[in-house]
Amino acid sequence: MSSNYYHYPVWVRLWHLVNAILCILLIITGLMIFLHDPVAGTADVAAGGSRLHNVSGIILTVSYLGFFAGNLFTENGKHYRTRLRGSFSRFLKQVRHYLYGQFRGEEAPFPVDSERKFNPVQKGTYAGVMYLVVPFLIITGTLMMHSDPADGLSSGFDIYAVLDILHIVLAVIVTLFLLVHLFISITGRHLMSIVSGWSRSGQAGG
Ligand code: HEM
Repeated sequence: MSSNYYHYPVWVRLWHLVNAILCILLIITGLMIFLHDPVAGTADVAAGGSRLHNVSGIILTVSYLGFFAGNLFTENGKHYRTRLRGSFSRFLKQVRHYLYGQFRGEEAPFPVDSERKFNPVQKGTYAGVMYLVVPFLIITGTLMMHSDPADGLSSGFDIYAVLDILHIVLAVIVTLFLLVHLFISITGRHLMSIVSGWSRSGQAGG
């Protein structure tokens, strides 16, 4: 029997829309800053990109706090918690389904139901990105905004360079997450869930 489950309340969908637009803007402007070459005369492009990057980062921080509070005070937070025992084998089972099983018409190992909104891969990646990677991206970005690249040079410890490298590594992780997230959303045919709010039963989870 086919049923639908209302798993994505309005606030989650609004947060997700704002977050997705800002992340794409941040990736583009971040690349502009990273690739700019003052010698070749692209410094102006980097300055514009840098302003937009900072403003987008500030709005993303506010929207992240909204997401954090939403998960703390509503039922949505329970979908990010997991039993550690057996979690790795559940994760691998779902990966096998994404890469192989789903293309052979196999049943999803962790289908969506009224209680289960995310499968183990979604749960693990969403929790990791939203509770580890994004907070540290925000912290390193904020610290860089409030420090001068020249500060550390005199003391012999270039803290700005350390923050910069950490920030770039975390940004690469978010970009890779986004690519996998899009692959899963498209091949699992649940792009519409985050627009309408409804998941279909039998969906590969989420
Ligand atoms: C064009 C960009 C994006 C598209 C098309 C997209 C698509 C989707 C879809 C279809 C869902 C619901 C189905 C599912 O749970 O897998 C979803 C949920 C989610 N997405 Fe994305 N996404 C995008 C960008 C992002 C970005 C940049 C992040 C984080 C950095 C993100 C984090 C999440 C999270 C945490 C959820 C679960 C929200 C909840 O229900 O609590 N998404 N996304």
